[in-house]
Amino acid sequence: MKQFYIHTFGCQMNVYDGQRIAALLQSRGMTQTDNIPDADIIILNTCAVRAKATDKVFSALGRIRTEKKPDALMGIVGCVAREAGADAFRRVPDLNFVLGPQSYHKLPEILENPDTRLLNIDLGGLEKFDEMPQITTSPTLAYIPIQEGCNHCCTYCIVPYTRGREISRPFDDVMRDVIHAANTGAVEICFLGQNVNGYKYTSPDGHIYRLSDLIRATATQDAIKRIRFTSSYPTEMTDDLIDMFRTEPKLLPFLNMPIQSGSPNVLTRMNRSYTLNLYIDIVDKLKRARPDIQISSDFIVGFPDETDSDFEQTMDIAKRIRYINSYSFKYSPRPHTAAALMPNQIPEKIKSQRLYKLDALLNEIQREFNESCIGKNLTCLYEGPDKTGKHAVYRTPYMQQCIVDTNGKDAPQMAEIKITAANKASLRGELLTDKN
Ligand code: 5AD
Ligand code: SF4
Repeated sequence: MKQFYIHTFGCQMNVYDGQRIAALLQSRGMTQTDNIPDADIIILNTCAVRAKATDKVFSALGRIRTEKKPDALMGIVGCVAREAGADAFRRVPDLNFVLGPQSYHKLPEILENPDTRLLNIDLGGLEKFDEMPQITTSPTLAYIPIQEGCNHCCTYCIVPYTRGREISRPFDDVMRDVIHAANTGAVEICFLGQNVNGYKYTSPDGHIYRLSDLIRATATQDAIKRIRFTSSYPTEMTDDLIDMFRTEPKLLPFLNMPIQSGSPNVLTRMNRSYTLNLYIDIVDKLKRARPDIQISSDFIVGFPDETDSDFEQTMDIAKRIRYINSYSFKYSPRPHTAAALMPNQIPEKIKSQRLYKLDALLNEIQREFNESCIGKNLTCLYEGPDKTGKHAVYRTPYMQQCIVDTNGKDAPQMAEIKITAANKASLRGELLTDKN
């Protein structure tokens, strides 16, 4: 039996794409292996968002070519494939295929014609969603893409180039995936999209469906207990969506809404189309709709021409919003982006210093939030056993990890947990009741 090896880098959308690719190859009778020397086809499912992510792919390819069977096929799919295009074959001459994020359903062509080189980095299709076999069993947490690509041209971001302009999947197709997930074991649905709250599908009869419609319809599924979505663009938090936090208890009180920077000047140069006041107003509206809501963000430090005072404004906004579970990155110039050509690029050393400072602040805020949970009862979703196998790992509604001693009993899928201790990275708790 032929075997495939797949390694996924990058975002949740890539993780989902990786699962679909695995299902595609399994439907053709192949089995998955974690061992490169055993594999007949090796696939790197890649991320191009920062230069480091791209470099990792090419160094992994260098390693893999010395380990693999001589006749094994080797290729890249996803964002680096789209970024590098045919140039990838020049950089790694024994590469067999290069398939962009919207063309990985073409993978079987290389299995049928292993002596050719396969290049497809076309954009603009939803074909892959239709042509690929369904993932047959769902984990308790099912990720479901609802839109792909992005129309906001942030000057630092390669995604509009790698994933293209926004396309929203038809409402009925998404709901078919939701129902399939609910029927095959999912308890939580996380809707995915590069600009997920920009979801907008117009049906042939002219009806416009938004993310709020998907949330409302998904909540009617009894098996589904928790709903969330990522990643959101601030100005697309429309009132119908904010209202969902008021009216739909299954929607978790947690929202990833990246601000990127707290400096108005930097936001303008990033081409982020909101003011700080507007962003703060949206957070206030969300808090009125759902007082226990918490927000997470992505931050970029060291954007071209970012001054010390710009950076201090980022620190200030982080303190003001008290973001939990956030990510911060050093600005990385990317091909096909406007910011890569801007003057006054910031030296690496300053970027590192700023990142260190911001991370320390974000960690401190996270620790304080985690400590504020002690004594509270939170409804959590079971994720699996911990490394020792002695404890159960749960996810709180705020995506914190919570370790629970189940005293040798089976861990219930949904459980009310009393939080007893906390540190920067995780919580500890006691099982109160079984919510199944
Ligand atoms: N450099 C650094 N970080 C970036 N991101 C996107 N593009 C870049 C870049 N060129 C970050 C943003 C985005 C997250 C997915 O990656 O913060 O929200
Ligand atoms: Fe990376 Fe962005 Fe592509 Fe996801 S969409 S894999 S984050 S470049």
